Amino acid sequence: MSAPTLAGTALKVTPLGEALGAEIEGVNLALLDDASFVQIERAWADHLVLRFRRQQLSDLGLMQFSRRFGALDPVPIRASDVMDHTDPRLAIDPEAREYVTIISNVKVDGMAIGGLGNYEAHWHTDMSYNDTPPSASLLYGIEVPPEGGDTSFCNMYLAYDTLDKTSRERVRSLTCVHDASRNSSGELRRGFADNDEPTRTIGARHPLVRVHPVTERACLFLGRRRNAYIPELPLDESEHLLDYLWAHATQQRFSWTQQWQQHDLVIWDNRCAMHRRDSFDDRYERVMHRTQIRGTTPIRYV
Ligand code: SIN
Repeated sequence: MSAPTLAGTALKVTPLGEALGAEIEGVNLALLDDASFVQIERAWADHLVLRFRRQQLSDLGLMQFSRRFGALDPVPIRASDVMDHTDPRLAIDPEAREYVTIISNVKVDGMAIGGLGNYEAHWHTDMSYNDTPPSASLLYGIEVPPEGGDTSFCNMYLAYDTLDKTSRERVRSLTCVHDASRNSSGELRRGFADNDEPTRTIGARHPLVRVHPVTERACLFLGRRRNAYIPELPLDESEHLLDYLWAHATQQRFSWTQQWQQHDLVIWDNRCAMHRRDSFDDRYERVMHRTQIRGTTPIRYV
């Protein structure tokens, strides 16, 4: 475990990727002081994704650190075959049930204790199908597999900045509808009907280019590819433009990959970074606890 931070001590910030990601060392998140948090916030604005190794966090500790970044969002709607959070077989603090999501392949009595199983999760922004998607997600590794299950992140400021001028101008005037029906592994959520027709997508409509409320920089805001639709365009043009933007944004040069160790805590800025996860062998158990910070309505960049 990291030693408590002495007030006024500079934290060590080491970039992890060319495009985004940094490691913060010299801090115990369970005993965080305000001066250290100011440094963390600054590093987060610069690097979009931060990793803290060897942290000992209970669910309440995770919630307490998360609340430094803003009010917590309630857990998202689960897929139909995932245990209800109120199920007493779940080892989750009763006070945390409303705010801590379990991401796991572990099953109890044949029932998944958390979401996403051991599947690949495709590139996405968390809960972008809501009118006010979370500003941040924090993921804490409780059990991690010895291989697989890596999480990659990509920098959506860079994705926007590196578009050619004509494309930048074009996308600034457009919006996109983000599909609410399936999670990032493609599983149908409770209460949603199957749909393969993007013009009938149910979910929030957001600007394709949003302004980050803190840095005031422009970033592409793609959310999720499946069933995405640009309502200002005919369907074939919408599909063509979205294919182009997705291929551009998810290039290796804009991304960095986190290989998990037990007790890693990773926070990402859900407004300007997308993420995906590799599948892993179901022989291994992966248990992650996640919180999310309430965001603001995405505003078009002008
Ligand atoms: C997520 O998509 O929020 C989960 C990422 C992960 O399991 O690594």
